[in-house]
Amino acid sequence: MPDNEAPEIDTSVPHSARIWDYWLGGKENYPVDREAGDAVLQVLPSIATSAKQDRAFLGRAVRFLVKEGIRQFLDLGTGLPTVDNTHEVAQRVAPESRIVYVDNDPLVLLHARALLQSSEQGSCDYVQADIRDTATVLEEAAKSLDFDRPVALMLLGVLNHILDDDEALRIVAGVLERLVPGSYLVISHTCDATTDELDGEAMRQAVRTVMERGGTPIRARSPEEIERLFAGTELLEPGVVSCSRWRPDPSPWTEPEVPHFCGVAVVRAR
Ligand SMILES: C[S@@+](CC[C@H](N)C(=O)[O-])C[C@H]1O[C@@H](n2cnc3c(N)ncnc32)[C@H](O)[C@@H]1O
Repeated sequence: MPDNEAPEIDTSVPHSARIWDYWLGGKENYPVDREAGDAVLQVLPSIATSAKQDRAFLGRAVRFLVKEGIRQFLDLGTGLPTVDNTHEVAQRVAPESRIVYVDNDPLVLLHARALLQSSEQGSCDYVQADIRDTATVLEEAAKSLDFDRPVALMLLGVLNHILDDDEALRIVAGVLERLVPGSYLVISHTCDATTDELDGEAMRQAVRTVMERGGTPIRARSPEEIERLFAGTELLEPGVVSCSRWRPDPSPWTEPEVPHFCGVAVVRAR
């Protein structure tokens, strides 16, 4: 799309990025998104905490990866820029970090141009694409990432929009086959686990609420189903857990579980 052409924003149906932004306390959302967001909050009040815990997990995961020597990030399903995006967390510690963001929502595109400001030493690029089109994603990402060096593939809150298991696996595998050993895979995903703290049925009801409103199609997966998305990689401790429980920062209290699970895995030599 030419630079001077504004992307078309559909404000008649709720969009995933905008509802997520609403739950995170952002302002880039419309009445239709807030209504859908509130309807979900009615059946699943913990969902807003999920969005915040997902972001906190992103921060801890990126800091861990930078410590492991990772300087390249391919972040699929960017969402609307908010505080502490992948590039901000990575470049704060390692300014030379290179980040490529990919999303298919035109509103994300509109804001990405203005907000994804890189450090001088590193780079930060945005690709408007559907993550199902892995060939385009890789071709565009290769313009700024060096695929002969390790890359962290970040899929936060986006594979829950790929309803078919085989398709989700194909997307992950399609990108992973380009990544060299020593690369990483980071996933977070809406989860319908039932535990002492979580009610899987409330999450399924929340998903039905979004679907009925014609929002971005979404599905929750069980922890086992999320773990399967890590096929071909070595899942690191503590495995697939609630975002609030993935290597939490030291604190006198334990954060409650949220119905958004995550994991980090390393790509070993094949
Ligand atoms: C819930 S938001 C998550 C944002 C961010 N990754 C985070 O965790 O805070 C999901 C994002 O995925 C994007 N998305 C959904 N399906 C997509 C697809 N098929 N291709 C590209 N982006 C997609 C949405 O537009 C939205 O911005």
